[in-house]
Amino acid sequence: MRFSQTIALITGAGSGIGKEVAIRLAGEGARVVLVGRTKSKLEAVANEINRTKRIPMAEIFPADVTDEEDVKELSDYINVHFGDLHILINNAGGAKNSKILDTTEEDWDDVQKTNLRSVFLVSKMLGNLMVTKAKEESGLQGRAIVNVASLSGHQAGQFLPHYSAAKAGVINFTRALALELAPYGIRVNSVSPGFIETPLTEQGLQNDKFVKAIERNTALKRIGKATEIANVIAFVASEEASYMTGSDVLVDGGWLIK
Ligand SMILES: NC(=O)c1ccc[n+]([C@@H]2O[C@H](COP(=O)([O-])OP(=O)(O)OC[C@H]3O[C@@H](n4cnc5c(N)ncnc54)[C@H](OP(=O)(O)O)[C@@H]3O)[C@@H](O)[C@H]2O)c1
Repeated sequence: MRFSQTIALITGAGSGIGKEVAIRLAGEGARVVLVGRTKSKLEAVANEINRTKRIPMAEIFPADVTDEEDVKELSDYINVHFGDLHILINNAGGAKNSKILDTTEEDWDDVQKTNLRSVFLVSKMLGNLMVTKAKEESGLQGRAIVNVASLSGHQAGQFLPHYSAAKAGVINFTRALALELAPYGIRVNSVSPGFIETPLTEQGLQNDKFVKAIERNTALKRIGKATEIANVIAFVASEEASYMTGSDVLVDGGWLIK
């Protein structure tokens, strides 16, 4: 079990990729804290995880990760209830579609908040806890942060200017944080998914032409599954990736090579 004796926090854990990451980490022994704004979605995932376990492995903490107060309360809760944090998965995010010339300032700010400010806030507050705990130890334990970026952070997506800019920001923020936290043995990496079937893409994937275009432009000729991203996130968070920090792992089915 790669994650026994491990406390892991996953943002955006109520659906899609975050849900599969939570299931995967808990399945390999981690105690997982599920964060998102919608309590009912978090409860459903926690129940799914805990149903099969003798000791409950999943807890929920409803919070808006763009809100400083919420994130502070989350950090205090982790400190008081668990006393440590080994793995942080900054997965919460969301997109809107528009041309740059039609994008409102409100939409621009909203997308930056959801995808980039959230990663900064959670990394800062929970990162402080991780550093404090690392300093208290004699030998450095393997702690890790994984930020979920996007293919759009590498190649700007059509009608996704705010999202593409924010995700490129996540990739570079990851490098900066990796440098800052390396002295404490905390690795920081990002994972960039391509087109994955989740609630985020559900509406778009109902359009047959869109699906065909993705299949045509993807070397592996198909859309990805959330579990295929969760597998990679779990690897990057695990000790198997112990010499990896400041990297971005593109998991796009071969979109960028076409
Ligand atoms: N699916 C893809 O093709 C794809 C491709 C590249 C990158 N990604 C990235 O992968 C990550 C996961 O997305 P997904 O595809 O799994 O979509 P999803 O199912 O919509 O998951 C996003 C989750 O984030 C939560 N969330 C959004 N804003 C939040 C906030 N302010 N505070 C707390 N939680 C928040 C949402 O729950 P609540 O609304 O209940 O808060 C939701 O459960 C995102 O960062 C996304 O940008 C996805």
